[in-house]
Amino acid sequence: MSHVLYLLLSLAELDAKTNGYILINANGGLNQMRFGICDMVAIAKVMKATLVLPELDHTSYWADDSAFKDLFDWRHFIEALKDDVHIVEALPSDFAEIEPFNKTPISWSKVSYYKIEVLPLLKQHKVLYFTHADSRLANNGIPPSIQKLRCRANYQALRYATPIEELANTLVSRMRHNGSPYLALHLRYEKDMLAFTGCSHGLSAEEDEELKGMRYEVAHWKEKEINATERRLLGGCPLTPRETSLLLKGLGFPSDTKIYLVAGEAYGNGSMQYLRDNFPSIFSHSTLSSEEELAPFRNHQNMLAGIDYTVALQSTVFLYTYDGNMAKAVQGHRRFENFKKTINPDRMNFVKLVDDFDEGKISWKKFSSKVKKLHSDRMGGPYMREPGEFPKLEESFYANPLPGCICEASRRK
Ligand SMILES: *[C@@H]1O[C@H](CO)[C@@H](O)[C@H](O)[C@H]1NC(C)=O
Ligand SMILES: *[C@@H]1O[C@H](CO)[C@@H](O)[C@H](O)[C@H]1NC(C)=O
Repeated sequence: MSHVLYLLLSLAELDAKTNGYILINANGGLNQMRFGICDMVAIAKVMKATLVLPELDHTSYWADDSAFKDLFDWRHFIEALKDDVHIVEALPSDFAEIEPFNKTPISWSKVSYYKIEVLPLLKQHKVLYFTHADSRLANNGIPPSIQKLRCRANYQALRYATPIEELANTLVSRMRHNGSPYLALHLRYEKDMLAFTGCSHGLSAEEDEELKGMRYEVAHWKEKEINATERRLLGGCPLTPRETSLLLKGLGFPSDTKIYLVAGEAYGNGSMQYLRDNFPSIFSHSTLSSEEELAPFRNHQNMLAGIDYTVALQSTVFLYTYDGNMAKAVQGHRRFENFKKTINPDRMNFVKLVDDFDEGKISWKKFSSKVKKLHSDRMGGPYMREPGEFPKLEESFYANPLPGCICEASRRK
């Protein structure tokens, strides 16, 4: 059974009567907003509420003044969900005068919280404004019909706006020139990530100081003193470009592998050199498109992220070097699309192998065979979403929507 058919079969009759309107502020970067918006669709369904097209965050690190209509195909969004949830462009005029009741829903809540605690507020005030949308619904313990709706929202309703899709598809066809496969690499060795995680392997002392300075400047990053060596050995650091190169080589990728770089250039003077020397065919949205093609998207980080998302989604292999929201979003979507190959590095054990190899303790042959063995079951195949003691330790629903919206028939394939 195809995914689409599976989802269609589960459609429930939509109750036309609404309990009120929900306004939301989708906070965070592109992928955090995506997850939040899909959760809010599900929450609107739970409360029989009408959803107003989401407002997007313009204050996050990835400053971008794009609105929902600039970033997503909003007509399709409304149409694709019309049998589940009423979504409107704006509050109807007789509600526009009402002062919305501000509410910050409790993180990782179950359906009962919305039914018992939030619904009475909606009925009373008629218009609720959710100040945050991120992580407001639990990963697990949610009714199957609601889990399916989250997926329908994420994988079918939420399409990027046509200009984004078009440029992304152009880039995909350039990467696939003459039918060649390509690998999308989410190389998250960027300055903000390194400053936040405290990772500085392979960087100079000056660069390490600069990162530390940045960390102390950002008040809401709580952890200030971080032992970079220790964190790396515990698997807590994004792979460096050199480590990434050793991983690809160790796994047997030939040096002419075409690589699409998701995310910006890596931080650190010369840090990309080793990777480029070993894998010279590295491209990105900047190198694959003309100035003119890219002009409408400049200074729109979320649009550029949408382009990268789409090229990564369609790649032959996706490799991510750290589990941020982009990595979660793309791997989950690839699982939904019949488990497209996605490499999830075992960072803790892999960096030990790198150190053993660098110290001459193991030969290249041994290194390569151990790297292959370490990753034989980390290629994006099906497994049940991993539980955790508390929500932060659970595997994200959107990184692995199984169980929830991948049907038995496709799992057996
Ligand atoms: C950082 O951690 C490493 C590995 O555990 C340890 O050898 C080193 O002494 C630590 N450095 C500091 C400054 O504590
Ligand atoms: C970057 O590295 C190169 C080669 O090691 C060196 O010549 C250059 O001065 C460095 N640049 C900076 C800004 O540190």
